[in-house]
Amino acid sequence: MAHSASNAQQAIITDGIQDILANNRQWVATKNAEDPEFFKRLATGQQPRYLFIGCSDSRVPASGITGTGPGEMFVHRNIANMVVHTDLNLLSVLQYAVEVLGVQDILVVGHYGCGGVAAAAANKQYGLIDNWLVNIRDVVRLHEAELLGVKDEPQRLRRLVELNVIEQVRNLAKTNIIQNAMRGDKPPRLHGLVYDIADGVLKDLQVDDSTALRGLAHIYGTEVKPLVAAPRVPEPPTTEEESSHYKGPQQDPSQVEAAAATA
Ligand code: CO
Repeated sequence: MAHSASNAQQAIITDGIQDILANNRQWVATKNAEDPEFFKRLATGQQPRYLFIGCSDSRVPASGITGTGPGEMFVHRNIANMVVHTDLNLLSVLQYAVEVLGVQDILVVGHYGCGGVAAAAANKQYGLIDNWLVNIRDVVRLHEAELLGVKDEPQRLRRLVELNVIEQVRNLAKTNIIQNAMRGDKPPRLHGLVYDIADGVLKDLQVDDSTALRGLAHIYGTEVKPLVAAPRVPEPPTTEEESSHYKGPQQDPSQVEAAAATA
C-alpha cells in the first residue's frame, strides 16, 4: 500500500539523519575528551590561515585531504572549483576571506576524475549546468593546441583538470580584491593544487601569485586611481534671477557676500 511504502521511506530518511546526529554526539565527546577548551575557544572567533576553493565532489573533503580542523580553513566549493567573475558567492567569500579574515594562503584545488571537467569536454547538453561548464570550455579554447597534442583521452582529461586549476588561479589574480591585497602589508599567496582521488595525494602545480599573471599584467593589471570629476565651470548668468544665485569663480567673494546680504 502507498501508506506503508511512505512509512518505509520515512524510516529510511529518519535512519539517515539519526546516523548523522549519533556521529555528531560521538565527535563532540571525542573532541571534549581530547581538549575540554576546544569548543569554548572556537566560539570566540575565527582567524583561518587558508582559503580553500575546491570542487563540490563528495570525494574531495577540504578538511580531510588537508589535515586541517575547525577554525583553520575558510571554504568555498562549487562544481569544478571555478573562479567566475560574475559569481557573487565566490566574490563575497574571497573578499571576506582576504579583507576581513586576512587569510595567508589561497588554494584552488582541482581533482582528477572531475565530473564537471569531463562534462565540459563532452559534446553533449546537460541542462542548466552547461552555462557553468562553458567557463571550462573557455579553458579548452585557451589551451586547445596543447590538449590536442595529448593523444590518450584519460591523459588529456587529467591535463585539462590541471589547466583548469591554473586558469582559476589566474582568475583569482585578475580580481581587484586580490590585486588590492597584493599591494597591502600581508599579500596572500595563491596556490594551484590537484588532488588524485585514486591515491589521495595532493600535488602542487607551482602556479603562484608571481606566475599567475606573468605576461598578462598589461591586460589584467589594475591600479587604484582616485576618480576625480572634472571641475565644473558654471555658465555666466543670463537673467536677473539667475544672477542672484550665481556663485561662479569669476565673482569677487565680497560681491557674493553683499548679494547674500541683500537677498
Ligand atoms: Co569535480
